[in-house]
Amino acid sequence: MQAVVYRRYGSPDVLEFQEIPKPTPAEGEVLIRVHAASVNPYDWHFLRGTPSFIRLFTGMSRPKSPRLGADVAGTIEAVGAKVAQFMIGDEVFGTAKGSFAEYACAVASQLAVKPQEISFEQAACLPIAGITALQGLRDKGDIQTGQAILINGAAGGVGTFAVQIAKSLGVRVTGVCSTGNIDFLRSIGADEVIDYTREDFARSTKLYDLLFDLVGNRSLADYLRALHPRGTYISCGGGGPENSTWNLLSGLLANAIRSRFVSQKMPGLFAKVNSGDLATLAALVQAGKVVPVVNRTYALREIAEAVRQVESGHVRGKVVIAIA
Ligand SMILES: NC(=O)c1ccc[n+]([C@@H]2O[C@H](COP(=O)([O-])OP(=O)(O)OC[C@H]3O[C@@H](n4cnc5c(N)ncnc54)[C@H](OP(=O)(O)O)[C@@H]3O)[C@@H](O)[C@H]2O)c1
Repeated sequence: MQAVVYRRYGSPDVLEFQEIPKPTPAEGEVLIRVHAASVNPYDWHFLRGTPSFIRLFTGMSRPKSPRLGADVAGTIEAVGAKVAQFMIGDEVFGTAKGSFAEYACAVASQLAVKPQEISFEQAACLPIAGITALQGLRDKGDIQTGQAILINGAAGGVGTFAVQIAKSLGVRVTGVCSTGNIDFLRSIGADEVIDYTREDFARSTKLYDLLFDLVGNRSLADYLRALHPRGTYISCGGGGPENSTWNLLSGLLANAIRSRFVSQKMPGLFAKVNSGDLATLAALVQAGKVVPVVNRTYALREIAEAVRQVESGHVRGKVVIAIA
């Protein structure tokens, strides 16, 4: 089968397109014939091995696994032992290691049935970004109907899901984006939009119950200034390919120390893909409350260009790889 591989850490230039053996599903896994995969910042963290502490898990001098890609949508081609919930021919979406390929094996508990209402390309957008938005707002943010939330980075992969999920929960949503995305954010449901090139949310007198930050470009003091005294700040990442381990860890440490002296809550977020939450996203799609936004679709051979677009940090919605 054809697959994207990388044998050393680096920019998208190190990605190769190769013929490799089709994998076999282990116990608890299924083999998926991949129809579409979407690209996340997660992928370039693995590709570049940055911030460098992740190499403790991904391989110190070179990648332990040469395969790249996580989000997937496709058809089940083979079922491993002890998988009762899926059959050959089922159309599914979720995460599978090495999804930038014609076939990939997935742990069955990280998959759900694909909603018929959307294409494979749209379904492939949902797993990491949709789950992050759902778990951030529902579990960490505990958002309640009638609250006001601010989403910094609302036009991107996680942001477009966060806007729609928050609206489905009856929340008043303000999204922060650049000038070119103002009308787009309104079209997916944002009640108010702040153009960060003209207006600074941290200098406004308006206070929010929840601030969901997907960019990480401001100081903690700025974020807390925009929150009610009992509000919640959720940091979800941020920083581009040049962000160092030191920047990341010192930021996390500063936040942990500061959180002891402020009234606002600051829970950490590390999204975990699971069948139950994928099914919740599928139900929101079926109810017409969430529509995945595909920014651009690339062929598997164009993977380097697709990853470069995501690394730019200015994608509207999601970038998708479609596999013929
Ligand atoms: N903790 C977790 O479990 C977890 C899970 C998933 C993702 N993440 C992290 O969450 C972050 C967001 O992920 P993503 O998939 O949404 O990324 P993404 O799709 O690459 O986000 C791109 C968006 O960021 C916006 N943006 C860039 N600069 C901005 C600024 N100064 N102010 C406001 N918006 C700005 C862009 O809007 P404009 O073009 O309008 O500037 C663009 O729409 C990443 O850092 C990712 O690593 C964390």
